[in-house]
Amino acid sequence: MSAPRRMLIAGNWKMNPTRAADAHVLAQLIDAAVTLPVDVDVIVCPPTIYLDLVRGALIGSGVGVGAQTMHWEASGAYTGETSPAMLSGDRGNPIATHVIIGHSERRQYDGETDEKVARKVAAALAYGLIPIAAIGETLEERRTGQAEAVVRRQLTAAISEVDTLGGRRMAIAYEPVWAIGTSMAASGADAQAAAAVIRELLVAAFGSDGSAIPILYGGSVTGENAAEFFGRDDVDGALVGGASLKPEAFAAIVAAAGASAS
Ligand code: 13P
Repeated sequence: MSAPRRMLIAGNWKMNPTRAADAHVLAQLIDAAVTLPVDVDVIVCPPTIYLDLVRGALIGSGVGVGAQTMHWEASGAYTGETSPAMLSGDRGNPIATHVIIGHSERRQYDGETDEKVARKVAAALAYGLIPIAAIGETLEERRTGQAEAVVRRQLTAAISEVDTLGGRRMAIAYEPVWAIGTSMAASGADAQAAAAVIRELLVAAFGSDGSAIPILYGGSVTGENAAEFFGRDDVDGALVGGASLKPEAFAAIVAAAGASAS
């Protein structure tokens, strides 16, 4: 890959597994299976209740930990929520380094609007967390020719409360909804086309900081198809769902990223 960006592979465990003991074992198996390439950051994003457990299991492995969502306020009367202050934890010892914001499942089932995504991205950055802002069109939107407009709208909203990055880090995940959990991954060309639009907007908003932001593809990424995405100019990694629960598959995706980063 020609771009001077570190790649990022993030495993989104979603609401899995159902037992803490299984989360611990999964983290250990991922630690054992993954060989960390030099130019690739690797994280897993377990359910909030397992964050500290998984973090502990992965200490020393080089595999980091991210959250799947958070609120934008630091504290207050928001029953059931987790705040950026809680995730960022003690100085130098965060519970999570990254946080996924605006996943399509949260947009679909939990009322995550563009406006909330904007607040959350800004709050994550303010607390030193690395937001992974997720955007992507539905099948209906793609069929009716609105895919690019949706990507532009969601990304513009997601970064609307960030004036400058000033050395802070963030990532964008392009996850077409129709490719999530369907085994119907986008083609590498489709992923690159969306990533190019995203790159153009990021550079327009943040200048050279925008060209340093990793853009991930997500949606039915497997060990077999991962290289197809990582070979593209503007695709710098993956947000992986189902395959991140399978240590060997996740390790193969990380290895594919390492091969294209080197
Ligand atoms: P799958 O890899 O299971 O399609 O999920 C993608 C996803 O939603 C990651 O956030």
